[in-house]
Amino acid sequence: MDAITALTTRVSPAKLGEPGPSSAQLERLIAAAAAAPDHGRMRPWRFVVIEGAARQRFGDVLANALQRREPTAPAGKIEAERQKAMRAPMILAIAAATQDNPKVPEIEQIVAVGAAAQNILVAAHAMGLGGFWRTGAPAYDPEIKAALGFGRDDTIVAFLYLGTVALAGPPRAVEPAPIVRRFA
Ligand SMILES: Cc1cc2nc3c(=O)[nH]c(=O)nc-3n(C[C@H](O)[C@H](O)[C@H](O)COP(=O)(O)O)c2cc1C
Repeated sequence: MDAITALTTRVSPAKLGEPGPSSAQLERLIAAAAAAPDHGRMRPWRFVVIEGAARQRFGDVLANALQRREPTAPAGKIEAERQKAMRAPMILAIAAATQDNPKVPEIEQIVAVGAAAQNILVAAHAMGLGGFWRTGAPAYDPEIKAALGFGRDDTIVAFLYLGTVALAGPPRAVEPAPIVRRFA
């Protein structure tokens, strides 16, 4: 698949299944991520791979954190949160480990990690895999950040769910509003 086709045909799958990325595919995905533009070559991206039985442990982390955030949440909601970790054979938790740099504001380091995450989604699509991006409250929960081994000052940018497309997502709609204008 050529690059423009990969970029313009990627959509979030409605459902992912087995198999997940192989070790060789994961290596290529990380290489694609690390090719993202990165002001000052600070390499701010950090990846935690969650697959196999570790997904159950991550599901417990998600469920316990939701229980703490919402002590009165019904059991069904907590269970649904736990099951989110089983939505794909592999989850990549991606964080920005930002550092003070007078020339590279923190926002630029976080944006670079966003670009790295997008590279992974597009590369996965080009390789015949599927993936979708989630954040939500878990991305901003210090307990989840710590459980994943990220630093206190790191910023979780993405949970990328990766696997084989079991049910395709809706094709991309035509851009509804004019988003480009010429400066003259
Ligand atoms: C930083 C970021 C965080 C996102 N978090 C969520 C999320 O928590 N839940 C969700 O339903 N979609 C989330 N999305 C959007 C979806 O991943 C997806 O891009 C969107 O539904 C559009 O579908 P598409 O990927 O097929 O274009 C997020 C996107 C980005 C860029």
